[in-house]
Amino acid sequence: RGRVLSGMRPTGRLHLGNYMGALYNWVKLQHEYECYFFIADYHALTTDYADTSNLKQNIRDVALDFLSAGLDPGLCTIFIQSKVPAHFELNDLLGMITPLSWLERVPSYKDQQEQLKEKDLATFGFLGYPLLQSADILLYQPKYVPVGKDQEAHVEITREIARRFNSLYPGRFYLDANAAPWELDAVKTKARKIAKQPDKDDFNTHELVQAAHQTKLKSGYFVETILPEPEVLLTPSPKLPGTDGRKMSKSYKNTILLSDSEPEIRSKLKTMVTDPARIRREDPGNPDVCPVFDLHKVFSTEETQQKAREGCTTAGIGCIECKGWLADGVVKALAPIQERRRYFEANPAEVDAILADGATRAAARAAITMQQVRSVVGLE
Ligand code: TYM
Repeated sequence: RGRVLSGMRPTGRLHLGNYMGALYNWVKLQHEYECYFFIADYHALTTDYADTSNLKQNIRDVALDFLSAGLDPGLCTIFIQSKVPAHFELNDLLGMITPLSWLERVPSYKDQQEQLKEKDLATFGFLGYPLLQSADILLYQPKYVPVGKDQEAHVEITREIARRFNSLYPGRFYLDANAAPWELDAVKTKARKIAKQPDKDDFNTHELVQAAHQTKLKSGYFVETILPEPEVLLTPSPKLPGTDGRKMSKSYKNTILLSDSEPEIRSKLKTMVTDPARIRREDPGNPDVCPVFDLHKVFSTEETQQKAREGCTTAGIGCIECKGWLADGVVKALAPIQERRRYFEANPAEVDAILADGATRAAARAAITMQQVRSVVGLE
């Protein structure tokens, strides 16, 4: 089983974009992989450091949303980032090898500074956001990072930082399993010659690679990678639209929350933008450019989608009717989630215990990576 890691910032209750872009995928992945899912509270501080009065409640809300969505602590590890100090430890170590220019050119750095002018994001912490995210990820040596489209650039810089780390600090040198015992001796003999030290026996990976390169070997060799480059896992809806047609996002105030009541869901969907060319009820619409239809594809049955497409293109139905059908699908999808939320809201001690146990498990896994990292960096 490979490992999987992902996280979400506690900036409020989770919405359908978080769910369809990531969380619902996590619920599936927990059955197949060794999964670590966390609440990125430090990341919330990189932008919202001035007013932290809601932070604790927001962390709680995300924990409740995780559990209500179906993350099962028996199958995956759920924890709060700040409860595992190794995240900052690896962050600081990776900071030694990360060029400033890499961080400055991450698109969200300039974009968010522009968008969130009132927050003063000319801080060390905000510049370091993608570095901390890289540390979050690499700390668990995962194969996959399941996130929405907007996080792709962050996983890309994670891969670059991992590559730089691995080339500076390669892991152990190995000959292929079929190598004859004398082959390693031959490599060492060559390494002694290169070093001009006939008695030397302790060689680092760089020295062994160089020597192996210059030795006629029957077998190949490889170098163990300490921080493997992870891959992004996207869902079929990596950029779910909100009620104004833009990407669903808390900062656009266009969200439908996993915990919204049925009347809230219905009234929010009623205001949702549609095909702008369909002005009057009699105009035929084009579902392929309509954000409401994008949501139908996610939340409605094939049959309802077919009915909506036909009604829209022939002007047989109005947008209000189409949105009503969509609301039925959303309400139905959220019912089991909301039922679980009520359970966990009523059992706060159980949630505390899940998070405490998750932090213990995550810290234990993080310690394995940190031990390898310290060793190859030369700290021990
Ligand atoms: P955050 O908290 O902004 O978003 C959480 C997850 O939800 C996805 N998402 C969406 N997917 C599809 N459509 C949408 N409209 C939509 N809106 C949000 C995001 O892509 C994300 O997967 N930097 C991260 C948090 C983080 C992290 C990490 C993630 C910190 N460390 C390590 C992965 C690994 C963030 O701010 O996500």
